[in-house]
Amino acid sequence: MKTAKKIYLRDYAPPAFFIESAGLIFDIQKNLTKVNSTLKIKKNPIYNKEAHPLVLDRGGFEIESVIADGMILLPGEYRADDKHFILANTPDEFELEITTILKPHENTSLEGLYKSGNILCTQCEAQGFRKITPFADRPDVLSVYTCTIIADKDKYPVLLSNGNPVKSGDLDNNRHFVTWEDPFKKPCYLFAMVAGDLACLKDTYTTGSGRTVELRIYCEKGNTDKCRHAMKSLKQAMEWDEKRFSLEYDLDLYQIVAISDFNAGAMENKGLNIFNSRYVLADPKSATDEDFLNIQNVIGHEYFHNWTGNRVTVKNWFQLSLKEGLTVFRDQEFSSDLNSRGVKRVSVVKNLRNSQFPEDSGPMAHPVRPESYIKMDNFYTATVYDKGAEIVRMIHQLIGEKNFQKGMSLYFERFDGMAVAIEDFIAVMEEAGNRDLGRFRLWYCQSGTPCVTITRKYDPALQQLEITLEQHTDPDINQSVKKPFHIPVRFGIIGPDGQDISPAETGLLELNSEKHRFTFDNIPGGSVPSFFRRFSAPVKIKTDLTDDELCFLMACDTDEFNRWDCAQTLFMKQIITLVEDFRNKKTMTVSPGLVKAFEKALKDRKTDMAFLARMLCLPDEAEIKEHFDLVDVTAIHESRQFLRHYIAQKLQSVFMDIIGLCSKTDPSSISHESMAARSLKNLSLSYLGSLKHADTTELVMHHYSGAKNMTDEIAAFKILSDIGPELKKEAADRFYKKWSHDRLVMDKWFAVQAGSCLEDTLDEVRALIMHPDFSMKNPNRVRSLIHAFAFGNHVNFHRHDGAGYRFVSKNIIELDNINHQVAARLAGAFNHWKKYDVKRQSMMKKELERILAVKTLSSNVHEIVSRAVS
Ligand code: BES
Ligand code: ZN
Repeated sequence: MKTAKKIYLRDYAPPAFFIESAGLIFDIQKNLTKVNSTLKIKKNPIYNKEAHPLVLDRGGFEIESVIADGMILLPGEYRADDKHFILANTPDEFELEITTILKPHENTSLEGLYKSGNILCTQCEAQGFRKITPFADRPDVLSVYTCTIIADKDKYPVLLSNGNPVKSGDLDNNRHFVTWEDPFKKPCYLFAMVAGDLACLKDTYTTGSGRTVELRIYCEKGNTDKCRHAMKSLKQAMEWDEKRFSLEYDLDLYQIVAISDFNAGAMENKGLNIFNSRYVLADPKSATDEDFLNIQNVIGHEYFHNWTGNRVTVKNWFQLSLKEGLTVFRDQEFSSDLNSRGVKRVSVVKNLRNSQFPEDSGPMAHPVRPESYIKMDNFYTATVYDKGAEIVRMIHQLIGEKNFQKGMSLYFERFDGMAVAIEDFIAVMEEAGNRDLGRFRLWYCQSGTPCVTITRKYDPALQQLEITLEQHTDPDINQSVKKPFHIPVRFGIIGPDGQDISPAETGLLELNSEKHRFTFDNIPGGSVPSFFRRFSAPVKIKTDLTDDELCFLMACDTDEFNRWDCAQTLFMKQIITLVEDFRNKKTMTVSPGLVKAFEKALKDRKTDMAFLARMLCLPDEAEIKEHFDLVDVTAIHESRQFLRHYIAQKLQSVFMDIIGLCSKTDPSSISHESMAARSLKNLSLSYLGSLKHADTTELVMHHYSGAKNMTDEIAAFKILSDIGPELKKEAADRFYKKWSHDRLVMDKWFAVQAGSCLEDTLDEVRALIMHPDFSMKNPNRVRSLIHAFAFGNHVNFHRHDGAGYRFVSKNIIELDNINHQVAARLAGAFNHWKKYDVKRQSMMKKELERILAVKTLSSNVHEIVSRAVS
């Protein structure tokens, strides 16, 4: 392996040349595509006094011809190595025309120009455009694009690119062309083109100012009916962005294309979003409620990028969170405004704790604005995205919605059409909120999750409550000494009657130093404080609340998020004691208080069922492991199973009642009420399934065969696949017969089997890799089988004999020859090897070393694995 260079933020310099315009012609032929690019290049005036060679980035294509200002250049008159195209001497302004020859059907990396089925498409973020033609492949070079696509009329009747179609016509030999012009300047990572035989769902949207926008969703033929939910979501997103952010769409056409082979979820190319088909296609028969919500969310996310990302873009890739963190914040707000705010917050926080917190304490720990990278693809992380969104949310809390919106207006006023930095965003928010965010900026440059410890002192005579907040962040590879963060703490007090104590609806406390004490007067005895309401900061929280107080808050905190959090804390405390009992070979016992609180919640008909289902769902094993310095795989698994079984046994009849109550809902409705009822019903069914009694298993089977939508079908299939090998096999065969024609449903089929906690799972997964429907070239399949096993099946990946590790590392090595990006993601499965026992540690380390020893290893996988071993 050639060691790839590390890129540092501190080395950033403005580009030496600008590219004013790019005229591209894609000539699609049978097994190759010729790309002719004409660039108007201008030297950056700040460098006018110095001699600078023109250095463009390039990928591994053949260069057919180079013409500068009309003169053909011979190979000796320009330099080209495998990463660059260089012209030593250039005038200050000139035109450069380059023709390259690409082989999209051989491109399994799925970046640059590639083939997905019979569709040709591009993926350029972060650095894929250089695989199409030599270019200044950096986000601070903004150009106007014209794109002409020429292709066979029968094979590629639909030819798409960014902006508006301006010209089209027929050519000889049954060929045709379309020319597209995008009036907005953009960095090359937002360029896209698509050619294929596609079906299309059309609609229109009228903006607040009265303009009509054409909306088009393209997909493979026969699927347009499955695009209706995506279309509805798009219109909701357009309307919401006008209402909440006063932002209107800026072109007359908005296009989305659904693609089966896609590395990420979706991509915000200007006027031509390209989506993984799993975030477009849905109907109740084949998609779950979760799929419907995800589609709405991802459609919103990519749409919102049109302003936060496209109109104002990033100066360099270190600023990625400027567009991603902010846009995730926006899509979360969109979902919260349209659906349930409480449920959304819970799922965001669960995800943060499950993936961002571990990332922040492992070998990949990096600040939200990283200081260096080898492969940028490796820094599309939970930290940049989800912690980035939490930081924006904290700013929103600190200055309020009104000032936040004022800040957003200022941001667009000042930076529209520009490539800017995170600092520019903070500065406008500071100005709009009239607040100094000096210390607050640390959130962007200091890694690690702070831990806040809260202690109380109550004086009954004075009716005074004293609260001490103390923060600590462990040192890591990025900083050996951590400074205190500026932490907003949303806080309230619940009186003994279960009501908020109004003067103390203190709202927002701010912890700005290592330690701070707050006092509150007129607090009656028996009141209970409620900290970090709405999860007001991305921190670990340690309180001195007793189990009784946690139960009290779980039942009546006025902050929904904290009701969930208290329930989860209770579960976690219980599981931790069970783990100790198990390890010490003591009889495992469950606290009666916990079961009582659980029963009370289950019978609470005032609370939203979707919320109850979230509240009563046990934390999964990956989340539990975060609470241990040394992870005992078996003890955690057995303890969680024990607790679930115990609750199911104690509350069997209550679960039965719930199932009856919730089964009345319309199976094909995706209203909040219907989805909520299904989630509580299926949660109840999973508790009952864990009993493995003849009658409860019979009940699950009955629900499986009677399921009228994918939510219920997959829920029952999952439960069965944890009960026993025969049932799992039977359910899987039946599912396959019913659904083998539907690719997205087959992804679920693979994932459920890969997630089973039964002992034969690894053997099954090994067999599934040989299944004719499995392909290493399709990222969705890799994610549904190998990823689901390595990240979602804690007991089986961490099998005591190390077979799970060997299986995954073998496949990382194989996959790396096909797709570096997806292989590097998978390699993250070994990141937390140091948290396990000595034996497992050495087995995982061995696999990491085996991967590192591969001579042809990509720098993507190399970066991840070498960070993990060091
Ligand atoms: N810009 C990204 C997609 C992207 C990143 C594609 C890097 C290729 C390389 C897009 O806006 C995005 O963030 N998509 C997310 C989904 C979103 C809802 C968070 C994704 O693809 O997972
Ligand atoms: Zn994004």
